[in-house]
Amino acid sequence: MRVIILESAADIAVQAGNIFVELLKEKPDAVLGLATGATPVPTYKYLIDCYNKGKVSFKDAVSFNLDEYIGLNKEHPNSYYFFMMDMLFSHVNMRKDMIHVPNGVAEDIEKECRDYDALIEQFGGIDVQLLGIGTNGHIGFNEPSDAFSEGTYVTDLTKSTIESNKIYFPNGDMPTKAITMGIGSIMKAKKVILISTGHSKAKAIKAMIEGEVTPSCPASILQKHSDAVIFLDRDAASLLA
Ligand code: F6R
Repeated sequence: MRVIILESAADIAVQAGNIFVELLKEKPDAVLGLATGATPVPTYKYLIDCYNKGKVSFKDAVSFNLDEYIGLNKEHPNSYYFFMMDMLFSHVNMRKDMIHVPNGVAEDIEKECRDYDALIEQFGGIDVQLLGIGTNGHIGFNEPSDAFSEGTYVTDLTKSTIESNKIYFPNGDMPTKAITMGIGSIMKAKKVILISTGHSKAKAIKAMIEGEVTPSCPASILQKHSDAVIFLDRDAASLLA
């Protein structure tokens, strides 16, 4: 695990974004693992800027997102599919049929989970997986529990995740379940970049980097990944020894 502490969220966006820019230069048909939430938004803005300046093309790229709320379809403004279109895909030359976000309204959700993992494999696996981290140490929607999950599955969201994300659902209709890539799926990515900013993440960051590897802090598994890079601002890094 390589930990890099930077001055600002903007610096993180440039460093994390450049990893994708370089990847796509070397491998135009790369498989990108993407995340939603507030943290990656500056990175996506930076990638859009690079695209507009002709520094990167998504023409042959493939993407797989980490997760989706159960019960929200692609058109729902709070769905992660909608978020990705809004924040990145509709602004770059990504092929729509190469965009993959788990389907939170699949009729057969168990099959959706199995198919999602199989499709990632079919494309040769994820080259670079971008991650944020929850205040409780979750990655994707892998919440603290007593065992590390494997492939894509449906999970109940914890109180702390519902607390953090309910601001996006002012009508109080936040889903309580999500479909998420499992820890096993995330660990298969060839490279993982976790980005985190702000004091609210400092405790989870300390547990991830300095704590023991335990499913009670799912992100701690990244200590065992052979190529994990963690970009932090000073606030997120503030509790590190
Ligand atoms: C989103 C995801 C989550 C978020 C995490 C942090 O696809 O998988 O693990 O990365 O909840 O969210 P923000 O960035 O909003 O603090």
